[in-house]
Amino acid sequence: MRYLTFALGKGRLAQKTLEMFEQIGITCEEMKDKNSRKLIFVNEELKLKFFLSKGPDVPTYVEYGAADIGIVGRDTIMEEGRKLYEVLDLGFGKCNMCVCGPESARDLLQHNQQIRVATKYPNIAKDYFYNKKHQTVEIIKLNGSIELAPIVGLSEVIVDIVETGATLRENGLGVLEEVCPLSARMVVNQVSMKMENERITKIINSLKGVIR
Ligand code: PRP
Repeated sequence: MRYLTFALGKGRLAQKTLEMFEQIGITCEEMKDKNSRKLIFVNEELKLKFFLSKGPDVPTYVEYGAADIGIVGRDTIMEEGRKLYEVLDLGFGKCNMCVCGPESARDLLQHNQQIRVATKYPNIAKDYFYNKKHQTVEIIKLNGSIELAPIVGLSEVIVDIVETGATLRENGLGVLEEVCPLSARMVVNQVSMKMENERITKIINSLKGVIR
């Protein structure tokens, strides 16, 4: 039997993902060691391999077949636009992609003014403003702490993930428009889905049984 390989995005979703796998009997003890610098983990019994990568790289590994299965946020799937199958909503990591900014930016948005939009998600932002709203904006790509942009005058608004809303509140910003809901998803390589259909379907069905 060949190994099935899982790519997990580092960070917020990884812990919850491992907990969910544990509930369906897929465990990987050595992965829990936070001090380890090891990159890939094996469960010999079940013939499974797991690795952690940067979230945005998960769809890349899955499209090329270096991983059969990936667990990643819908934001990343949308932003990367890779060829893969999205097979399951895991029901955790729920949050929203939103246009945010100071209350004063609401007018600019509504009156179709030429505005600057800072974001870690330029493709999602473009799709939203150009294709859905038919509004011309300037997109500025940032890599984190996006909420800084309107505060220091880099942009009028941001397109970013809002979970609890605490980051916005503590910085005098708010949600101006909702782009779409997000959550953790399971994605599968298109060839793996055919070649390993039985094993993968079994995993999907087991996960369905523990999704709340
Ligand atoms: C994310 C997101 C917001 C924040 C939202 O950033 O970009 O900044 O979390 O969460 P909240 O609504 O619960 O406050 P993250 O902490 O992942 O880091 P980043 O700013 O480096 O992207």
